[in-house]
Amino acid sequence: MKTPPSPPAPSKTLFRWQRAPLQNHLHALMPQWGGQALEISSQDLASNASFVNYVRHHRFTDPNTGKPVEVVEKSIRKIAFIGSQEARFHRAEGMLAGSTQFRYPSCLGVIETPWESLIFTEFVCGKPPRMQAIARQLASGIAELEDLSHAWLQAQPLGKAPLLWSMDFFRPWFLLRPRFNFDRCLPGLAQLGREDTQFAGLAERFDAFVPLMRKLAGEARRSPRCFSHMDYLRKNLFVNKGQLHLIDWSEVKVGRVGFDGGAYLGSLFRRKDMGVFLAAQSEFVEAYREALAERFDEGQALGNLRYVFLLTALFHCLRPETVEEYRERERMGMLREKYEYLLGACLEG
Ligand SMILES: Nc1ncnc2c1ncn2[C@@H]1O[C@H](COP(=O)(O)OP(=O)(O)O)[C@@H](O)[C@H]1O
Ligand SMILES: [Mg+2]
Repeated sequence: MKTPPSPPAPSKTLFRWQRAPLQNHLHALMPQWGGQALEISSQDLASNASFVNYVRHHRFTDPNTGKPVEVVEKSIRKIAFIGSQEARFHRAEGMLAGSTQFRYPSCLGVIETPWESLIFTEFVCGKPPRMQAIARQLASGIAELEDLSHAWLQAQPLGKAPLLWSMDFFRPWFLLRPRFNFDRCLPGLAQLGREDTQFAGLAERFDAFVPLMRKLAGEARRSPRCFSHMDYLRKNLFVNKGQLHLIDWSEVKVGRVGFDGGAYLGSLFRRKDMGVFLAAQSEFVEAYREALAERFDEGQALGNLRYVFLLTALFHCLRPETVEEYRERERMGMLREKYEYLLGACLEG
């Protein structure tokens, strides 16, 4: 990793009413540069999230030290002047400072304009990991993130309550998203059952998840809060010298202990075959149980994990796009196997 700008700035949020050139923003965030000219070379990085205008990699020389500086600028579009989750997350200053498991690129600061949030972070070098190979490392990182962020949340003054309330997983603006409502896909599954006998009768069996999910949601809601990253994808992680660097907080929520494990396993279940998934799952759960902070109840954390795993897995496996994809690749047998797993292990478990 390249040397971060010195001194390492605590993340801060600045408000601007108008758009301004990049150089002005950098000077506003780094007043110690005294407005000296910066020769910046920039490159766009691949981004595909909705609401993200662009992600850019900028390189220049620190005018004070002469050392190279590499920063990433992420521009997130606002709707009705409301700031993004990610920009709000960066206001949680110092929360993850004591981290020993995951590494997080430091945030130089956030510029808020009425139209966009500009987030400036340190550039990270490294390779994207194979997601099934890092189950144990992720388990320790997630357990630590949950512990540190839980402690941070408990120490927050009342003044922060509205901000944190708005970021809570159980707010309707999150819960009403299609991805958290698998039951809307059940009529499609009933139709599939009429066309293909191996899927006959499954929609009725999946109905049983509706009350189960309601029960799990109720239990999760009352359990200990923490920050949950919720987006454990290959392109959001870098491995460098054995260290795991985690980026991209665009899906972050004030979640509950266990949610991130469910998000990781849900995305693995979606992308890998059953053998790979089951092996990684057992490694993850074993390491997570070991790493989980004592203050949390293990049964509750695993219940919450199951809740988010099912939310993710049910939606992705049942939605019409997925069924179409499996059909095109002539892998309907594999999809059937995933359905059977969900109905068997997860419904009883
Ligand atoms: N701090 C960083 N260091 C190195 N690469 C980064 C950094 N931030 C973003 N990137 C690259 O840019 C891509 C998109 O950025 P990301 O924050 O993940 O946006 P999105 O929300 O669009 O996924 C990442 O997948 C990664 O390759
Ligand atoms: Mg990303």
